[in-house]
Amino acid sequence: MKAEILSILKKTDGFVSGQELCSLLGVSRTAIWKNIKKLQEEGYEIEAINRKGYRLVDMPVDAMTAAEIQSCLTDKTDNNWRYHVLYQDEVDSTNTWAKREAEAGAADGTVLVADTQTAGKGRRGRSWSSPSGYAAYMSIVLRPSILPERASMVTLVAGLSVASAIRSMGLEAKIKWPNDVVISGKKVCGILTEMSTQMEEINYLVLGIGINVNMTDFPEEIRDKATSICLESGKMVKRAELIAVVLRKFSIYYDKFLQCEDLSAIQDEYNSMLINCNRRIRVLQPENGYEGTSDGINEKGELLVTKDDGTQVNVYAGEVSVRGLYGYV
Ligand code: BTN
Repeated sequence: MKAEILSILKKTDGFVSGQELCSLLGVSRTAIWKNIKKLQEEGYEIEAINRKGYRLVDMPVDAMTAAEIQSCLTDKTDNNWRYHVLYQDEVDSTNTWAKREAEAGAADGTVLVADTQTAGKGRRGRSWSSPSGYAAYMSIVLRPSILPERASMVTLVAGLSVASAIRSMGLEAKIKWPNDVVISGKKVCGILTEMSTQMEEINYLVLGIGINVNMTDFPEEIRDKATSICLESGKMVKRAELIAVVLRKFSIYYDKFLQCEDLSAIQDEYNSMLINCNRRIRVLQPENGYEGTSDGINEKGELLVTKDDGTQVNVYAGEVSVRGLYGYV
């Protein structure tokens, strides 16, 4: 209810009466007052005047709370009903937290967000550096009724959603197959999907997304490979708003994916953002690495590569890594 109150206060220029809030939300005045108090404790400056009601005077510049994120998602014109947001200032890893919640029965569409992670996880067993105050760390619990072998496509759906969200801010985000998001050739987002299966069914998927939002510098060892939205745009971004845009985009693309159970409905859009498309690449694998030209993904999310001898191969995500011939992308 905090999120709904916040959303109403944000949309209103002047005062909203207590009575109005009660009838809009179908709750008592005491319930409204308790939630207003909680918002004030979280740093929202809310004026409360007898007979006039409540007015949002000021709010934290980059507020990161469940209510803030959820309040950016209450636009009833799309299908954001599916999300339920949970927030903690500090966790081990939002993916690990999401798994705990999923094991305890968390619903499809539960979103776990943290300001910092003490044990952030990257792909291939690497760690994901997770400083506080600058980034978006989020994991989504999903329970799709699809075969486990199709789950890896959800990661590509997420990459497309993040790239599209960043593009809506005027930046030319691209996708490095299968799911890194890059701007100006540097990584701005990483995605880690984990899965629990039972027999031939998916019990749950945890889709973990880490976005470099407001960092203005990176450690020496990754400085030439990593960037942030702020570094690229020169502007600070409100993380809660960005998370809401990503979630909104994801719900649209994910629905299309669920309808076809493959990427056919979004493949063209994905390929239009694919940095490796029509470029020389090197496919790295333990044995027999090779070079070729990438032709984009097919409906299963495999990267099609034409080798120098003219034969076309389908490269599976997870199996290999792909590099441009010059540097990270
Ligand atoms: C990669 O190596 O590119 C994937 C990085 C994924 C990082 C995100 S941050 C939120 C979620 N929680 C984690 O522990 N990892 C993912």
